[in-house]
Amino acid sequence: MTVTIVGAQLGDEGKGALVDRWGEEADTVVRYQGGDNAGHTVVEGGEEYKLSLVPSGCVRGKTGVLGNGCVVNPRTLFDEIETLREKGLDPDVRVAKRAHVILPYHRVFDNMEETDKEDTDMKVGTTGRGIGPTYEDKAGRRGVRIGDLLDTDVLRNRLEYTVANKRAIAEEVYGIDAGVEFDVDELVAEFAEYGRRLQENDMLVEAGDFLYEQHEAGGNLLFEGAQGTSIDIDHGNYPNVTSSNPTAGGATVGSGVGPGVVGAGEIVGIVKAYLSRVGEGPLPTEMEDDEEDLADEIREKGGEFGTVTGRPRRIGWLDVPMLRHAARRSSFTGLAVNHVDVLAGLEELQVCHSYELDGETRETVPATTEEWARCEPNFREFETWSEQDWSAVAEEGYDALPAACRDYLEYLESELGAPVYAVGVGPDRDQTVERQTPWE
Ligand code: IMP
Repeated sequence: MTVTIVGAQLGDEGKGALVDRWGEEADTVVRYQGGDNAGHTVVEGGEEYKLSLVPSGCVRGKTGVLGNGCVVNPRTLFDEIETLREKGLDPDVRVAKRAHVILPYHRVFDNMEETDKEDTDMKVGTTGRGIGPTYEDKAGRRGVRIGDLLDTDVLRNRLEYTVANKRAIAEEVYGIDAGVEFDVDELVAEFAEYGRRLQENDMLVEAGDFLYEQHEAGGNLLFEGAQGTSIDIDHGNYPNVTSSNPTAGGATVGSGVGPGVVGAGEIVGIVKAYLSRVGEGPLPTEMEDDEEDLADEIREKGGEFGTVTGRPRRIGWLDVPMLRHAARRSSFTGLAVNHVDVLAGLEELQVCHSYELDGETRETVPATTEEWARCEPNFREFETWSEQDWSAVAEEGYDALPAACRDYLEYLESELGAPVYAVGVGPDRDQTVERQTPWE
């Protein structure tokens, strides 16, 4: 069977911990979109693993696949594999030959465009990893795919066209000195070598066929979404989005596993009990002005600083219209709610149940970002809960959660029409209250 993990908010919902936990019953963990913009922290036995590209399941000894929908920076890939090896792991990572390659000039373009947009509301606040420019080249049919790294002539041909084009834009439009990132010979030498390493280490796959065979043979596939629904390029608040589809449809397009298979499995929405956002864009429930102290408290307690960039995250109250939007776009069959421990001990607890927009009450997110920015939250006050021995709660199970916390969770279940499978009560893998695994 398959289980698909989808971020229900703006990324950073704590997907890694669940992927790690539920990955135990999977044979293969598949990333279907994004690249090294993702930040997955997996804590195991006190050891912290920070991954941005390698599927988090690899920490548990599973096969990890980077599907065709991913954009792969081979430098990051081999660095992360090396770091895991130094910690005594032997990660089994496969890469789709159809996946696109992030080249050094993509990062230059990412940062150049962000600088250019600096004082406009077009600024996205990207992670600077070259994600958008790589997907742009994919759609523009001038990208380099992983499979192209295997044949130096093909690689050189592709790069000669594309690099000349990029160099001209960099120099003539943006007025920068195009450096070594735009040197075809250097690029061919470095990236053909990655191709050789990928082949030598038996890491290359036609992902769709590889996964088809595993599924046919009765294997369990876990699809690990990165980022979240509200930064999905189609269903997020454009243009403050990433350039791929974290929603469940992405799992099929970005892996080559058919929608009938993905749809027949479980699709679990991962929710953080409050909101955080890195980068630009509206956040109707943002804690600002007289709530800044509260935001600081949650930020510190929840460690809300970007895994990839270290940027402090903006903090807001839980936004249920955003969650309804996510549940409908991805057909959630279950939920996991993380970080309920971070909310413990607060003096007040609010949840945005609906929005007011132009005199109307709305239960979901409007299609334009401008409208979303004008939405006024209709808050509902919830009872707070106190600090607990969360490890003990995790051990005892759902009924050991404070009653107010259970009310909060049950409200979400009824609004989103999906049961809560798990509740995150701390950063460690064991600090999870599990009611049911999605594999059951
Ligand atoms: P990009 O993916 O680097 O192009 O960034 C586009 C937007 O997505 C920016 O607002 C980033 O902050 C946001 N973003 C990208 N990856 C993540 C993530 O893993 N968690 C949260 N936000 C992300």
